[in-house]
Amino acid sequence: MEQQKRYGHFDDQHREYVITDPKTPWPWINYLGNEDFFSLISNTAGGYSFYKDAKFRRITRYRYNNIPMDNGGRYFYIKEGDTVWNPGWKPCKTPLDFYECRHGMGYTRITGRKNGVEASVLFFVPLGKWAEVQKLTLTNQSSDVKTLKLFSFEEWCLWNAATDMENFQRNFSTGEVEVEVPNLAISTSNNSSKIEAPTPDVSNSSKIEAPTPDVSNSSKIEAPTPDVSTSGATIYHKTEYRERRNHYAFYHVNAEIQGYDTNRETFVGLYNELSEPEAVLEGRPRNSHAHGWSPIASHYIEVTLQPGESKDFVFLLGYIENEQDEKFSAPQVINKQKAYALIESLNTTEKVDKAFAELNQYWDKLLNIYKVKTGNDKLDRMVNIWNQYQCMVTFNFSRSASFFESGIGRGMGFRDSNQDLVGFVHQIPSRARQRIIDIASTQFPDGGCYHQYQPLTKRGNNDIGGGFNDDPCWLIFGTVAYLKETGDFSILDEMVPFDNQPGSEVTLFEHLKISMDHVIKNLGPHMLPLIGRADWNDCLNLNCFSWDPNESFQTTENVSEGTKAESLMIAGLFVVTGKEYVALCKELAKRTENLELKTERCDYSQDGEQSTTGNHTSQFSTLSSQFSAEAARMQQAVDAMIEAVKKHGWDGEWYLRAYDFYGRKIGSNECDEAKIFIESQGWCTMAEIGAEDGMVAKSLDSCKKYLECEHGMVLNNPAFTKYIYEYGEISSYPEGYKENAGIFCHNNPWVIIGECLAGRGNDAWAHYAKILPSYVEEKYQTLHKVEPYVNCQMVAGKDAFKPGEGKNSWLTGTAAWMWLTVSQHILGIKPEYDGLRIDPCLPSTAGDYTVQRKFRDAQYTITIHPNGAQKGVKQIVLDGSAIDGTVIPYSPGEHTVEVTM
Ligand code: GLC
Ligand code: GLC
Repeated sequence: MEQQKRYGHFDDQHREYVITDPKTPWPWINYLGNEDFFSLISNTAGGYSFYKDAKFRRITRYRYNNIPMDNGGRYFYIKEGDTVWNPGWKPCKTPLDFYECRHGMGYTRITGRKNGVEASVLFFVPLGKWAEVQKLTLTNQSSDVKTLKLFSFEEWCLWNAATDMENFQRNFSTGEVEVEVPNLAISTSNNSSKIEAPTPDVSNSSKIEAPTPDVSNSSKIEAPTPDVSTSGATIYHKTEYRERRNHYAFYHVNAEIQGYDTNRETFVGLYNELSEPEAVLEGRPRNSHAHGWSPIASHYIEVTLQPGESKDFVFLLGYIENEQDEKFSAPQVINKQKAYALIESLNTTEKVDKAFAELNQYWDKLLNIYKVKTGNDKLDRMVNIWNQYQCMVTFNFSRSASFFESGIGRGMGFRDSNQDLVGFVHQIPSRARQRIIDIASTQFPDGGCYHQYQPLTKRGNNDIGGGFNDDPCWLIFGTVAYLKETGDFSILDEMVPFDNQPGSEVTLFEHLKISMDHVIKNLGPHMLPLIGRADWNDCLNLNCFSWDPNESFQTTENVSEGTKAESLMIAGLFVVTGKEYVALCKELAKRTENLELKTERCDYSQDGEQSTTGNHTSQFSTLSSQFSAEAARMQQAVDAMIEAVKKHGWDGEWYLRAYDFYGRKIGSNECDEAKIFIESQGWCTMAEIGAEDGMVAKSLDSCKKYLECEHGMVLNNPAFTKYIYEYGEISSYPEGYKENAGIFCHNNPWVIIGECLAGRGNDAWAHYAKILPSYVEEKYQTLHKVEPYVNCQMVAGKDAFKPGEGKNSWLTGTAAWMWLTVSQHILGIKPEYDGLRIDPCLPSTAGDYTVQRKFRDAQYTITIHPNGAQKGVKQIVLDGSAIDGTVIPYSPGEHTVEVTM
């Protein structure tokens, strides 16, 4: 085993991860932005920004899998004499005297020191703003006067991140910019500077002359004088604005500048790297204007610092949209009013500091909703900080943009987003509500669903289509979580279309119903759910049958139309969500009945008699009995599924995984390879199928025996060693990676919850701690490779070349599932329709702990005394009085709860 180096540590007090060595084993990134404007930022300031959609509104350019890795970002070059350095080490990689990157909640602060100068940059996206702030503080820590040359750098993306990387015959001709530098008296639309502004003289670099704007073609200079309120300097990116786009971006600094560049080739040099831009090495900006090719934005500022002196510069990367008829202020000149306003709101240190304080308060509030104190730092910091933070990020990004997801491949996944919102719903329920409606709007009338949709348009993605037969169930999973958190049943009455077609609307409840029916109507020969293209495991493609490497495993169905292969994972998922659906129908029956009673009572008190709303009353009671009937109908289907699993889904020691197209077992002792799979163990134990016959306990034991290893539980065992045409993509991966026996972290919590339901607290905890980032962080920073503060999608399994190596960090359903596991099942605080259920499942070593839980309009302080028990609540005392059962009934206000196990 290679030696494990440490690259950083947690700082819980500031809710930060502190990286102290820029050469992390992989870029360790953070996310900025909350709702519309987003940025990815690595520990060396690499990454990019986009507005809402990483594919269609990419603001800055990034080249994935570059050489060297992570080249491209927002860079500040500082030149002192012949030394050029960056506060984040890259791209110059000049050795620094000090380096530190602090990734916090929605912000990143990178600090570098060189030869007595400190440069510290705070990056964040202020709440509600379409902009990334980069506050650069330069401090002279030496006793000499320092004269520095500062260059900023951003490279624009031509909006569509896919065509930006492909369509060069067009791209190299479309780029357009405008520049406004009041202190140099420059204000140009693109056309106004056909001849490049003269470049300043290097020999006399201390005093750079303002370049004269081109007057040879003065009729074309019609740019209005910039608004005086926007002092500083701004470079605008307006490619394609002349045609159908109504949006542009800008890069501003709130200081006078002595030069700038907007043409990449001129600034960097055609054969130079970003570590050696010609303009920077020479200490001389070119005042270039991009006409096609690759537009960039770079400001040049000369800075003199007295000993001890500090100066702030606020850089702002902004995005603006204009109404169609307000696009231009003069022919070809973009209307900048909104840009001025945005700049004006963030152009001083004070304004920026205030916005930053607001962001921190926002996170204080979010993280105060569920807070635990166990005394185990490694647990507390994940529950109170990083797990919840990652849930927000996965909610926002689904699987679109990370350093493994290029942002152009996938939009929002139907199943992914439903799972993500379960980790997020307690934070901002209103956003989860909207997300549920958006997702449901991409469902088809038969209950099937688009597998993905594009966040900007909210339309289903035709390239991938539907046919993933687990998808419908997840809508129940997401909606029920929302209902239990909020008690807002009105969402079920929302009118929601199919496939976004106006006129097709039915209630959300109706969508849930057809989701369940979609499973029931698509059963196979063993009365188990048909798998379709795939279930949760996108790579178990039982109807694909492909020998053609140019075909997509995800969408190809060659021989069958999916009428035979069946999934035990969907069977378990159906039982779990089916039970929830039944409980929901019963709850609705109860509520409508109560409404009926209330109406009666209310009529009585108003009129003194009961007759007037007789109609109303009977309507409610019909409704109520309809819900009861629906509950009974679905309970039957659930029972039938349980029977089918017991009869056809049990292999003796574990649950089967599936039946293939030919009716052969998958995930059985009879198979040569992949005898056991994790998904069906997780879902069928969560569904508690056959618990009374010992099936659950045996299945959980088999997971320990065959799937578990030092780094977690692998997806299947033994790994596939060759491609199996009947199974598809799963066997395309080398042993131990991804869906072929990788530790696919997402599904470990399913088994852990199965353990919790079975009351096996020691086992649950052992599995959980293995994939808990803070535990891994302590042992394996080098091996694990990716960010140690969040879960990654996959850790190489025991059959891999290097077990324990992590990949695909950040955007994974693991975040929401880890949250559900720890908050509801291990620590045991679970929202129900009427209150909070308290039912922990703990290792027998657990000590007393306290959870602060804000729930709707109530604040609960819950102290649990485990007394060595793994499971089983003996007594709950609410505000001084013992209550029956394990549910604390919801009531607004502050409450204290003592729980004895
Ligand atoms: C990826 C997908 C997810 C899928 C999983 C297993 O994480 O985003 O939808 O369930 O892989 O294949
Ligand atoms: C591949 C990946 C899987 C992912 C899918 C998404 O199949 O292995 O994890 O869910 O692509 O398209």
